[in-house]
Amino acid sequence: MKKILIAPSILSADFGKLNEEIASVAKYADLIHCDVMDGCFVPNITFGNEVVKCIKSAKPLDVHLMIVKPEKHIEAFAKCNEKVSMISFHLEATKQPKKIIKEIKDFGIKAGIAIKPETPAKKIFPFLKELDFVLVMTVEPGFGGQKFMQSVLPKIKELRELASELDIEADGGINAKTAKLATEAGANILVAGSYIFGAKDKKKAIEMLTG
Ligand code: DX5
Ligand code: ZN
Repeated sequence: MKKILIAPSILSADFGKLNEEIASVAKYADLIHCDVMDGCFVPNITFGNEVVKCIKSAKPLDVHLMIVKPEKHIEAFAKCNEKVSMISFHLEATKQPKKIIKEIKDFGIKAGIAIKPETPAKKIFPFLKELDFVLVMTVEPGFGGQKFMQSVLPKIKELRELASELDIEADGGINAKTAKLATEAGANILVAGSYIFGAKDKKKAIEMLTG
């Protein structure tokens, strides 16, 4: 079984003291998850590459693009911070997934496709060979603090059965209980925002996720 990696989502952090917030979890985490939202692909707006540029993190950055036409912005995110090590974009947001995967990889960054809860696994089958990881949304993208959708678990299982070495990231509604469900289904990267940043003891919260 693959090692479980924990990626705290800064969506639930205090943006006014972002680097302090990141420092408070980086020691215990494997990655720092950056949720980029444009108010168009999703109803909410967060931040862009200029903010990612200012992030100081001891751990690699995992950038989740929830934006329309991601192909227009790959270079900006790939170059803004040397800690960027993973970039995912939504399959529902582009007509050029192959081109984007190649562009991300050409920057020496791991490429991932993210899919919303209603998007079937088979839509990413044609890209599996080229992908470094898949991000499976376990809530509707747009906001932190939502309830984990158990209906997505069979999709994670399906992907894991098909690709034993693929990194599968579960994103949304992750807590100690749902982390177990997601990892049992086959996810090996867990994104958690409100559960970690809302905890009094962040170290303990992270430990609870790995079981
Ligand atoms: C939602 C984001 C998630 C979100 C997770 O659109 O992609 O990364 O921040 O937050 P929680 O853990 O609170 O569901
Ligand atoms: Zn995310």
